Amino acid sequence: MTDSWATFGADLHLEPVGTGLRSGLMAALREAVRSGRLAPGTRLPSSRALAADLGIARNTVADAYAELVAEGWLTARQGSGTRVAQRAAPRRPPDPVAPRTRPARPRTGHSLKAGSPDVSAFPRTAWLRAARKAVTAAPDEVFDYGDPLGRVELRTVLAEYLARARGVHADPERIVICAGFVHGLKLLGAVLRGRRVRELAVESYGLDLHRDLITATGLATPCLPLDELGSRTGELAGMRGTGAVLLTPAHQFPTGVPLHPDRRAAAVDWARATGGLILEDDYDGEFRYDRQPVGALQGLDPERVVYLGTASKSLAPGLRLGWMVLPRRLVGEVVAAKGPADWMSGAVDQLTLAEFIASGAYDRHVRSMRLRYRRRRDQLVTALAERAPGIEVSGIAAGLHAVLELPPGTERPVIQAAAFQGLRLEGLARYRHPDAPPGRDALVIGYGSPSESAWTGALDALCRVLP
Ligand SMILES: Cc1ncc(COP(=O)(O)O)c(C=O)c1O
Repeated sequence: MTDSWATFGADLHLEPVGTGLRSGLMAALREAVRSGRLAPGTRLPSSRALAADLGIARNTVADAYAELVAEGWLTARQGSGTRVAQRAAPRRPPDPVAPRTRPARPRTGHSLKAGSPDVSAFPRTAWLRAARKAVTAAPDEVFDYGDPLGRVELRTVLAEYLARARGVHADPERIVICAGFVHGLKLLGAVLRGRRVRELAVESYGLDLHRDLITATGLATPCLPLDELGSRTGELAGMRGTGAVLLTPAHQFPTGVPLHPDRRAAAVDWARATGGLILEDDYDGEFRYDRQPVGALQGLDPERVVYLGTASKSLAPGLRLGWMVLPRRLVGEVVAAKGPADWMSGAVDQLTLAEFIASGAYDRHVRSMRLRYRRRRDQLVTALAERAPGIEVSGIAAGLHAVLELPPGTERPVIQAAAFQGLRLEGLARYRHPDAPPGRDALVIGYGSPSESAWTGALDALCRVLP
């Protein structure tokens, strides 16, 4: 196949990477742009021409172009074709040992990908104030190697905050600070493996990143079916090899359903009857709009449920701060799983967060962001009713994302059309467990991530591509 690449476009030799046609083409194009062999502004052949040249399906080329547009490598405009983006990538060859950073999005583009809060709203001034106060008051030992559980100041304020705001049974001695949810999940995977657990069940829709992480710890991830009442936890009893389950009870990710009280009770019954463990991912529990907050499942049985919280939605993912509230018997095992290389998170950030929470700045920030996200959610619902009245929206009572139902067979074309217009969208299919049956066509719209200045444009771009 390598020969045929040589006939492509501007007399360029491209080395396809891997075995997939689309991913190989994408990798080759990225490499050509990254190395400067395809200069900014270069017009690429039409997908039809390139497909004919390479002897592959036109859709494969169109998909590769669309994804590279969404990633910011290429731009696509009606009338001027697909071109290499002006600020697509550094011209120097990639450093073989440096991890690859994600290419910037096109300047003119938008992303409604779920997962991030509006990071432009990070409370810089209040955070700096908290950091100044925390560092000024810190005793010298703060700057030494410290407790692998995390700073006691942070664990103490978190215990109070989680009990008050999320109904968690927490005391500082059973809290372990970690580098976000993923770190906690990795540690718990190792603990479960050490306890000879073979399977950690996951919801039939969720993040592949989390499934992959669990698999990497040596656990299988059987799939727990999901319906309009949340995950069907009653079915855990029939999953013989399963010793633990990962749930998003407050706001299922990504479908947005809260776990029904009967399903919560069934999960706890299963854990009590079998000695199983429930991992509760409370990633966006603070952002509830229509009703009283749905309290944490952990409150039902703190010895059977691990509560995992994170600052990634409430403040910023870049902080890499998360916390686990553990059954007492697991605290020592989790600390052992951390080991010397993973001993503790940075003490200054921990103390800053402790001060930020204790001073009331965290509550104020969450309240103000809740208003912002709620307003966006309302604007999304209104815009859909006016401009795409056939599209049903769900999962909107909480969180930073919503699910938009699409007519059957339109999920991929809508995502592609959006990418060609510089709008990054994700479909529900992306989150489906490989063993789950095919489901409905839908978009998962992360309305939290754009900055305030980008939000209206992103919403308008979305409405323009909806069928
Ligand atoms: C379902 C879910 N859980 C947890 C997280 C938070 O992960 P972390 O704390 O590792 O940033 C996210 C963030 O995107 C998420 O979508």
